[in-house]
Amino acid sequence: MKALITGGAGYIGSHTLIALSDAGYDFVVYDNLCNSSKESLARVSKIINRDIDFVEGDIRDKKRLQELFTTYKIDAVIHFAGLKAVGESVEQPIRYYDNNVNGTLVLLDIMQEFKCKKIVFSSSATVYGDPVSTPIEESFRVGGTTNPYGTSKYMIERILEDLVISDSSFQAVILRYFNPVGAHESGTIGEDPNGIPNNLMPFISQVAVGKREYLSVFGGDYDTKDGTGVRDYIHVVDLADAHVKALNYINSKQFNTKNLTFNIGMGVGYSVLDMVKAFERVSKREVPYKIVQRRAGDIAKCFANSLLAKEVLGWSALKTIEDMCIDSWRWQSNNPNGYSDK
Ligand code: NAD
Ligand code: UD1
Repeated sequence: MKALITGGAGYIGSHTLIALSDAGYDFVVYDNLCNSSKESLARVSKIINRDIDFVEGDIRDKKRLQELFTTYKIDAVIHFAGLKAVGESVEQPIRYYDNNVNGTLVLLDIMQEFKCKKIVFSSSATVYGDPVSTPIEESFRVGGTTNPYGTSKYMIERILEDLVISDSSFQAVILRYFNPVGAHESGTIGEDPNGIPNNLMPFISQVAVGKREYLSVFGGDYDTKDGTGVRDYIHVVDLADAHVKALNYINSKQFNTKNLTFNIGMGVGYSVLDMVKAFERVSKREVPYKIVQRRAGDIAKCFANSLLAKEVLGWSALKTIEDMCIDSWRWQSNNPNGYSDK
């Protein structure tokens, strides 16, 4: 069984290649490298001890995808390719809708042409907007998104749901990731954000390694245990495993269109200060911080009920926040400048 991994050179994709290889799945990576480099694939190749089939290209490039599907017999697609920076999506909505929504439409069109009818899609907890309560269940209302990035994920979910209704032989699994963090235990691959990180964990790691002076904690007056925002952090290696479980499910007799969408989180909420303290414990470094104003668009609490993934996919998170911090720290301290430290 050969899977096409769009966006496979990126953060989550690269970790998923290892999980797929361990599970015996064959794959080809397709990526335009707009937010990644071939170095991540070279490092994955070392970890899995074999060459990786890689084709450089854009998911909006119909001709290139046709060539790809002609060269390789693709049985299923894991679709990571997409732009993901929330702030940038507000400034450049057309670029985001074109890349994420239009790109997915082109990909789905080619899949139909080549009769490839299995897809696992990277969605996000962002589709829930500000939830009425926590833990968040898959049945909660979606679509109250507050930025073009989030709306692009919501639109793609709807497109996939409509496709499954229109063609009963088409199988889709939508994984709604909560907050992916951490890195492979080898410390050779990890998250390599461009410029100043927007997300908490890369920022904490860069403060600990001395690249940044202090962490700005966005808001200390939320209705949470210590006033700082609460999130469901999920180790990227656990997240990678969820994709293997999703492919197994799609390939099994258990697949049922009633269960297409799954929350992928730990099911536990940790505050910003919990993460800072855990990071300090494992790295034995101080992480200086200052509490500043809330960040526009942030919510107080977001964590998952992931029981459906456990029941149907047989997946649950195994790694702890200590593992997340140790592995982020190993990656950051071995590669202070990410993949440019070759
Ligand atoms: P990433 O930026 O590291 O990886 C995405 C990859 O897709 C990159 O290698 C990039 O070069 C590639 N890409 C982007 N547009 C492309 C295009 N038009 N054609 C071909 N390749 C293209 O991001 P990631 O963190 O690995 O995220 C993977 C997916 O998961 C994304 O769809 C993202 O929106 C989604 N997601 C990520 C998070 C997170 O916090 N990291 C949370 C929820 C959902
Ligand atoms: C962000 C995105 C969300 C995306 C998710 C995936 C925004 C508004 N939302 O969510 O769409 O799906 O990443 O990972 O960008 N924090 C600080 N200081 C920092 C950075 C973050 O205090 O320098 C706090 C935030 O206020 C929040 C928590 O840390 O309480 C986590 O923030 P972040 O890592 O950016 O993730 P989300 O905001 O949950």
